[in-house]
Amino acid sequence: MRETLRDGKAPLHDRALLLHGHKRNAVLTLEEVRRYGSDSFSDPDYVRLYGMSPPQWYERGIRLLGRTAVECTRDPLADRIGRDIAGVAASLPAATRFLVIDPFAGSCNTLYWILRHVPWSRGIAFEFDPRVYELTRRNIEGLDRAIELMNGDYRLLLDERHPSAGDAMIIFVAPPWGAALDEVEGLDLRRTEPPVTEIVAHIERMYPDRKVLFAVQVYEKVDAPSLAELDAKLDWSMLKVYDLNAEGRNHGILLGTKGWTP
Ligand SMILES: C[S@@+](CC[C@H](N)C(=O)[O-])C[C@H]1O[C@@H](n2cnc3c(N)ncnc32)[C@H](O)[C@@H]1O
Repeated sequence: MRETLRDGKAPLHDRALLLHGHKRNAVLTLEEVRRYGSDSFSDPDYVRLYGMSPPQWYERGIRLLGRTAVECTRDPLADRIGRDIAGVAASLPAATRFLVIDPFAGSCNTLYWILRHVPWSRGIAFEFDPRVYELTRRNIEGLDRAIELMNGDYRLLLDERHPSAGDAMIIFVAPPWGAALDEVEGLDLRRTEPPVTEIVAHIERMYPDRKVLFAVQVYEKVDAPSLAELDAKLDWSMLKVYDLNAEGRNHGILLGTKGWTP
């Protein structure tokens, strides 16, 4: 991977360097986090997490690997996702308790915001990269929402979880996109790693009698056949794109239910 040098000094802090280059598994300094924000998005405070700007979270001892700084869902988007999930979940009876699972924890930031917005909720997250797991475990320790984070593959860890009888489930599905995004055709939900379609099918097999709300993080354009394939597995669905980025390339959320209809 070629890393771009600026003025013969520090390399450009972009997606290539942090996600695929030598900073992928390096713990970033505050300066590097802010340089990534300004180099890539003209905003040194771009990587806002857990309700804090980078200087605020760094001061509290929160640390990120290069890959997680790129892969994380930042506050403005995680907050909107949490609100929209809560809006749909609110159509279940008021006393409903929710088990919220993020099978692809990364920073745990989206799960944190979902727990902030959904009443009577508790959170579990799975992360199979031991370095990401270890840092996130420490990062979330002092937050005002408790998250049970486990190290391993979501398929094995899910098998060990048996939600309390009567609990509804919210599953946040944001696996790495890998080569699934094509700017023309959109995001192919059958080609993420692992495929979104496979994750949803796996969860439906495991919890056939539960009320489940899936929230799948998507790109502003989704490959139509893959969306139809996913839709066919759900009882109800709604696609929402967030206008957080003026130049386009926005992210969105596909909300879908199984076992109930809002
Ligand atoms: C795109 S990030 C998730 C972003 C995160 N949900 C957030 O709110 O910031 C994907 C994470 O899932 C992890 N991962 C990928 N495949 C996994 C699997 N099969 N089981 C558990 N974790 C996995 C990766 O190591 C990575 O940290």
